[in-house]
Amino acid sequence: MSGSENSAGAAHGAASLTNVRHVTVIGSGTMGSQIAMVSALAGFETALVDIAQDPLELAKDQLWKRVDRDVEKGRRDGGDVTAAKNRLTFTTDRDAAVASTDLVIEAAVEDLAVKRSLFTSLDAVAPERTVLVTNSSNIVSSRIADATGRPEKVCNMHFFNPALIMECVEVVPHPETSAETVDTVTALAEAFGKSVVRLRREIPGFVANRLLNAIRREALSLHDEGIADVEDIDRAARTALRHPMGPFELMDLVGIDVVYLIRMAEYEQTGDPGSLPAESVTRLYEKGKYGRKTGEGWYTYST
Ligand code: CAA
Repeated sequence: MSGSENSAGAAHGAASLTNVRHVTVIGSGTMGSQIAMVSALAGFETALVDIAQDPLELAKDQLWKRVDRDVEKGRRDGGDVTAAKNRLTFTTDRDAAVASTDLVIEAAVEDLAVKRSLFTSLDAVAPERTVLVTNSSNIVSSRIADATGRPEKVCNMHFFNPALIMECVEVVPHPETSAETVDTVTALAEAFGKSVVRLRREIPGFVANRLLNAIRREALSLHDEGIADVEDIDRAARTALRHPMGPFELMDLVGIDVVYLIRMAEYEQTGDPGSLPAESVTRLYEKGKYGRKTGEGWYTYST
């Protein structure tokens, strides 16, 4: 099987990765923390940055449990995991981390103003060579790049939850992103052991989330119109379509807050009321029921 223009398999050529040794990840939430661990496991010196010590400690605790379990279960080598732990630093000193880093992956909150101001600060401190990417799936990088003096070194590098497991990374340039930046980010994702989906041009949601959103939108409408219960819709996805989890279970995994904020970010960009979050999602969001991370979302969780 091959694509219409590209040959199948490693379609992106062999971009070399000689210029990235140190990676900094901003934001120690679910995505940022696992992305940082992926980077450290792949052999890169990595800094995970957050504004406070508490989330960093929580992230460290959760990551160590994950990778230790992988060693216990024989899924990873103990020596590799110890080496990766030693390569990963947890810090609130963003400027110090960024001052000597080769590539920054921003995985902070899905809020355009926050991202723009963050990228301005990163640009002021990072060396000239440093590439700045955002893990956002909905805020395209052209909306952030002009907050820096290096738009050619900015693009989206989008991971999936849980980042330690999911193979796909989408690499999405904006019109001014250089080919060199796209090659560097592609090569980095491949060095992380990921499978890269490259977009020719940006569109909010990229490819995978647009597919996912179509299913999610339909699932929410079936639920909100009272056609079927959450459990049954999830069961249909799992047992009829062999999805690993149903759309509601997946929202709880990704975070209802993330689902809500992604829809709001899309609405900001499109102005289309059809982009707004479903009422049921808004209700959960307003009650702080964010899914697994708060113990309750569409389902309740014991831990
Ligand atoms: N983090 C890291 N590893 C995890 C994990 C997590 N949150 N949850 C599960 N795993 C790993 C563990 O190694 C686990 O094994 P152990 O329990 O022995 O440690 C293994 O996966 C199997 O887990 P489970 O038996 O609990 O469940 P599973 O077989 O269903 O696998 C899953 C879990 C990998 C998450 C799987 O259900 C799956 O692939 N789900 C779909 C995920 C998906 O669609 N992600 C994309 C979301 S969209 C997105 O991320 C984009 C965005 O912009 C927000």
